Amino acid sequence: MQALDLLLNRYSSSRLQAPAPKADELETILKAGLRAPDHGNLTPWKFIISQDVGIEKLSQIFEAAAQDANESEEDQQRAKLAPFRAPLIITVVSTADANAKIPVIEQNISTGCTVHAMEMAAYSLGYGSMWRTGKWAYNSFINSALNLKESDQIIGFLYIGSRLPRERKPDLPHRPLENYVEYLD
Ligand SMILES: Cc1cc2nc3c(=O)[nH]c(=O)nc-3n(C[C@H](O)[C@H](O)[C@H](O)COP(=O)(O)O)c2cc1C
Repeated sequence: MQALDLLLNRYSSSRLQAPAPKADELETILKAGLRAPDHGNLTPWKFIISQDVGIEKLSQIFEAAAQDANESEEDQQRAKLAPFRAPLIITVVSTADANAKIPVIEQNISTGCTVHAMEMAAYSLGYGSMWRTGKWAYNSFINSALNLKESDQIIGFLYIGSRLPRERKPDLPHRPLENYVEYLD
C-alpha cells in the first residue's frame, strides 16, 4: 500500500473479528508504534497485549472496575463484554515522567502517536482497528489491576482484528481545508 493512500484513506472499524494479526504481523505493528516521534528519546510508553486469555482477563478487570464503581448490573455486563469486540487489544499507556525535562503533554502526545502509527500499520497489513478510551482509560482501579502506577495514563485501548466481510468502506468525512487552515502571511 502506498504511504499517501494509507494516510489519506485509513478509517476505523468498530466491528472486528478473528483472525487477529499473526505473531510476526503483531511485531510489525508494535515496531511501527516504537517509531513514533519522541522528544528526548524518553520512550514514555508501555503496550499491554491482550489476546485469547488476555481478553478474558481484561473483561474480568473491566467488570470488576464496574462493580467497584457501583455501576448497574446492565453497565457491569456492558463493561464485561467490551473487550470481546476484537480479538486483539493493545492497551497503550503513557508512562510520562513529570520530573523529566520534556513536558508531560509532549510525552502523552508521543504515546498518542504510537497509537496512530499502530493503527496505520494494522491497516496496511489489511486489518481493521479502533482507538477507544472511555471511562476505563481514566480509572484508578483499572490502573492498579493492570499493575500501572497511579501516574500512568492509559492513552487508548487499540482494538485490532479482521473487518467483517460485509463491511463497507465508510464515506470519509468532508473536512474542507479552509475550515482548519490559515496562512500567516
Ligand atoms: C484519544 C481517542 C479516543 C477515542 N475513544 C473512542 C471511544 O472510546 N469510542 C469511540 O467510539 N471512538 C473513539 N475514538 C474515535 C475513533 O477511534 C475513530 O477515530 C472515530 O470513530 C472516527 O473514525 P475514523 O478514524 O474512521 O475517522 C477515539 C479517538 C481518539 C483519538
